[in-house]
Amino acid sequence: MSDNLTTLAYLPTIISFILALKFLSSPKHARLGNQLGAIGMALAIAVTLAQKHFYGLGYMLIAVGGLIGGGIGWVGARKVKMTDMPQMVAIFNGVGGGAVALVALVEFHQTAAEPGRMLLNVSIAIIVSALIGSISFAGSMVAFGKLQGLVGDRPIVWRGQRVGNIIILLIGITAGTFILGGHSYQLMWLLLIEIAAALAFGILFVLPIGGADMPVVISLLNACTGLSASAAGFELRQNVLIVSGMLVGSSGSLLTLMMCRAMNRSLGNVIFGAFGQIQTGPSTAASNEGLTVRATTAEDVAIMLAYAHKVIIVPGYGLAVAQAQHDVRQLADLLTARGVNVEYAIHPVAGRMPGHMNVLLAEANVPYTQLKEMDEINPEFPQTDVSLVIGANDVVNPAARSDKSSPIYGMPILDVDKSKAVVVLKRSMNPGFAGIENHLFYEPETSMLFGDAKDSILKLIAAVKAV
Ligand code: TAP
Repeated sequence: MSDNLTTLAYLPTIISFILALKFLSSPKHARLGNQLGAIGMALAIAVTLAQKHFYGLGYMLIAVGGLIGGGIGWVGARKVKMTDMPQMVAIFNGVGGGAVALVALVEFHQTAAEPGRMLLNVSIAIIVSALIGSISFAGSMVAFGKLQGLVGDRPIVWRGQRVGNIIILLIGITAGTFILGGHSYQLMWLLLIEIAAALAFGILFVLPIGGADMPVVISLLNACTGLSASAAGFELRQNVLIVSGMLVGSSGSLLTLMMCRAMNRSLGNVIFGAFGQIQTGPSTAASNEGLTVRATTAEDVAIMLAYAHKVIIVPGYGLAVAQAQHDVRQLADLLTARGVNVEYAIHPVAGRMPGHMNVLLAEANVPYTQLKEMDEINPEFPQTDVSLVIGANDVVNPAARSDKSSPIYGMPILDVDKSKAVVVLKRSMNPGFAGIENHLFYEPETSMLFGDAKDSILKLIAAVKAV
């Protein structure tokens, strides 16, 4: 295939990737977006294989690699639990970065063996892709370990950590700089030093970040993998890789910033803030002295729900843990059949990954029209009879509006405290991700239905049926 024809053949891939991203930005069209992305990727592989750069054994090795990798991906994606999805993304992202670093090694090996000096642009691309790809690989593996509970999920911090990390990164960059424009195969050891330093930096940079901040870190590393793949596109003179790498890089960067904004935290605070350590400041237990919590029963809540005009369901991380999405849908259907107006309030960072609640509720076929984003639903709380908070905590904590000393101060929240009554379903008085108390639980209009969310909802279903 001629170069022009190949470039033209890659065009549908590029267009399908752009459309895929567009469709993935709304839950309604996300499936279509995913399918378009997969078709684009299949096209890219087919065009690459058609370039006749390979011979019999080459094709066989590619087929074996494709079958092993594709098989693992297929089984993994089918078996993974919704709550384990961030780990899955971490692994996929990590192997992407690792693959880019390996391509850089191979390209260096081939280019350095040719007579003459290496082209400056090619050596820059090799150095950049090896550095960022290795950081992304090592960082993603630590992120996976933290989320999977293999590495402690609390921030691991020690003295001189930041200075040590910067020195290691500088060693990697310096080794890479010496390679620039070089021509000797002997320089391979410099590339190996660069990769080793980048791997060490990737590990050490993620260790001090708390497990619950991993989705932000994974999104950041995802952006890095995109950039490294783009650099690999320059090495391999593949426009499709340059464009798709840039798409991943820019969308990953935007997602990272959007998550930080939704938590009202800077990226620096996520990376260096060691967030997730239990707070012992003044805004915790001491300030709750004299306040009481009102525990309630499923029967009492069922009566409140059955005779309400308007109920807003507020799902949070606990709903995902309890895997109660199908039961919530059943409860909502029961109430709707009784003439109650039921809607779901979706906070952008409820749960532990972007779109967590949308995906969870979509799994239970909750109609998209009932899912309301935070800005849309907040004005509706004052007219709401009951807000049913299921496994959500930080995203409904009024301290974010009023308590300047709170670590979540300034984070936009769902204004459930403005509704006429609030029922919170959780197992205990334990804090959520931010590790802080929630005054909502002590408010006079709030009652607590303690227990696993799934058990509580099943009890509520039975009780509503009995009303
Ligand atoms: P959280 O504040 O983490 O609270 C979840 C609550 O669910 C906990 O208080 C827990 O209380 C309860 N829970 C856990 N398992 C349960 C079960 N089986 N049944 C009933 N309740 C259960 O969750 P949220 O309100 O969704 O807020 C998300 C937090 O994660 C925010 O602080 C956000 O900034 C952070 N975060 C989100 C993301 C993304 S992208 N979504 C990324 C990074 C960080 P009990 O233990 O008492 O049951």
